[in-house]
Amino acid sequence: MRTVVVASQKGGSGKTTLAAHLAVTIERARCGPAVLVDLDPQATLSGWWNQRDSEAPACAAAQSLSTLPEKLAELAEAGFAWAVVDTPPAIGATNRVAIGVADLVVIPTRASPHDLNALGSTLEIVQAAGKPFVFVLNSAKPGTAIATQAVALLSEHGPVCPAVIGDRVMYASSMSDGRSIAELDPTGKGANELGKLLEFVKSRFPEFQKVKVKQYA
Ligand SMILES: Nc1ncnc2c1ncn2[C@@H]1O[C@H](COP(=O)(O)OP(=O)(O)OP(=O)(O)O)[C@@H](O)[C@H]1O
Ligand SMILES: [Mg+2]
Repeated sequence: MRTVVVASQKGGSGKTTLAAHLAVTIERARCGPAVLVDLDPQATLSGWWNQRDSEAPACAAAQSLSTLPEKLAELAEAGFAWAVVDTPPAIGATNRVAIGVADLVVIPTRASPHDLNALGSTLEIVQAAGKPFVFVLNSAKPGTAIATQAVALLSEHGPVCPAVIGDRVMYASSMSDGRSIAELDPTGKGANELGKLLEFVKSRFPEFQKVKVKQYA
């Protein structure tokens, strides 16, 4: 099982939205099964999941931080291919433990200077833990100067998802009733950018990297 932890100290950067949408995208692409783990006391992700009609992705309660590694081992044993973990907007024990169990940390950020400046402390923890990470520019307008500058700045510090997650009202409306934007509009631009996000996340794992075949003359 691959454990993807969505983390950023900055409130409102899109952690919960991306965690939910990534897990649904994994299921829709038939790369699952995926399970969500909500470590945020705000419980926004669990609230979203409780409203869903669909059972997939699954959602598992993490009883306590100290048993998180055992919980993840149990989920792996149960056959889940991916765990997507949502974290609170803080730098504390929860985030340190979550980052400690991550195979990949996804760090969402908005494009504003305030948001970008706030990334330092998250990055410090991730790098101190020696964990692979990616940045995802969220709620931006692709092609605008601010989005382009943000991507350029982020790429000086680490890999950046080539697909910018657009500022779309549908992200907010889908989250309010337990759905994802791909379920509201399967062929829309949002579903397309989420597909690219999944491809990028997969590409960070060696088992999905393309190995060129030897050619014989
Ligand atoms: N790409 C987007 N387009 C439009 N709205 C978005 C987008 N991403 C997130 N939002 C909205 O921004 C708000 C914050 O998003 P979200 O709750 O996912 O952030 P968060 O990082 O989990 O917040 P917190 O730090 O409080 O846990 C929500 O109202 C959400 O609907
Ligand atoms: Mg959240």
